[in-house]
Amino acid sequence: MLRFVRGSTWVRFRGAVGGFCERKWEAVPPWWRTNSGAPRFFVCVPRDTVPAVQQQPRVDRLIWLDGEFVPWERATVHILSHSLQRGSLVFDYMSVHQTPRGAAVFRLDLHVQRMLRSCELMGLPLRQGAALISEAIIETARANPGAKAVKASAYFPSVEVDVVPLDTRVSLAIAAYDPQADIIDPLSQSGERQKRAKQVRLWLEKQTHQRREDIVSPQAKVAANYAASMTAKARALEHGFDEILLVDEENQLAEGPTTNVFVVDGGGVLCTPPERRVLRGVTRQSIIELAKADGIELREVPLSPEALTTAREVFLTGTSAGVLPVVSVDGRPVGTSCPGPVAESLSQHFERVTAGRDPDFDHWLCYVDEA
Ligand SMILES: Cc1ncc(COP(=O)(O)O)c(C=O)c1O
Repeated sequence: MLRFVRGSTWVRFRGAVGGFCERKWEAVPPWWRTNSGAPRFFVCVPRDTVPAVQQQPRVDRLIWLDGEFVPWERATVHILSHSLQRGSLVFDYMSVHQTPRGAAVFRLDLHVQRMLRSCELMGLPLRQGAALISEAIIETARANPGAKAVKASAYFPSVEVDVVPLDTRVSLAIAAYDPQADIIDPLSQSGERQKRAKQVRLWLEKQTHQRREDIVSPQAKVAANYAASMTAKARALEHGFDEILLVDEENQLAEGPTTNVFVVDGGGVLCTPPERRVLRGVTRQSIIELAKADGIELREVPLSPEALTTAREVFLTGTSAGVLPVVSVDGRPVGTSCPGPVAESLSQHFERVTAGRDPDFDHWLCYVDEA
């Protein structure tokens, strides 16, 4: 339906092949209009009736953007912005849990520290310090009831030509949302809810060039670090696997695209690759601390791919994944049961902590309504 607006009104022009531009009606060039005043080439609708992000469903949430809340669809960047073109966006992603004391952000301090470290490693001069970022995260979680996750992003919004930006101002955006309800469900073509897997068939990515510490530090949570794992995981999904594990340049087990890995070896010892070679996963750190508290022997040691073949158990950890048992590696079953006893007991303990039901680890939760 063709609708158009006259007078001193902002309007959006939606092109035939998608996209839009915004103009004041009186600033619209005359050749865009017919003699009767109707738009000639475009569908013209009043501002705010076209989603800013084309083909994305409307999400009724507020995003904190450089100190102000803006509607979800207005948190956009220019197509030529440095962070989009060069992958320089640094981010961190944390979980929000419902507890008897209301919503709580899990290990906020560790996430904020990691974000600052990522910015430092990538040379993003973020103006805000830890206290302000933490406060903004809590405020954003509070402004978005029902949110289950928070993603904080620091990026160069400036349109640039060279790889090193001339305008080094960094924007900070914080979004709090429900990944399943707000993003995954509306994106699912079939309309069926895609449920989180309870166990995964893992593919060990054999190419050592997928993850090179000498190119970008694995400890920087930066968009550029995910390009290699995107292609490797896409290949594995095509072959019927659910998740991949990357090896580093020395052919040692490293991590998944968004997870860390744990192995219970043939002697029953829980092992994980040393933190120098992987992203310092907050879930990884939490599982290490819970294992110590539960008297489970743990070693941070380099692990060769053969460790997967002889393992009693393999599991992945991550903010989205939680504790995720691996049922098979490259099609070969792992251990005798999935989940194995170690993964099962750590997973249960982890869930008690995140639900606010373990007073010993209550300090890991930052209560949104009490902060
Ligand atoms: C490369 C990588 N490794 C590990 C993890 C797990 O970290 P966390 O437990 O903090 O989510 C992530 C998180 O997305 C990641 O991107």
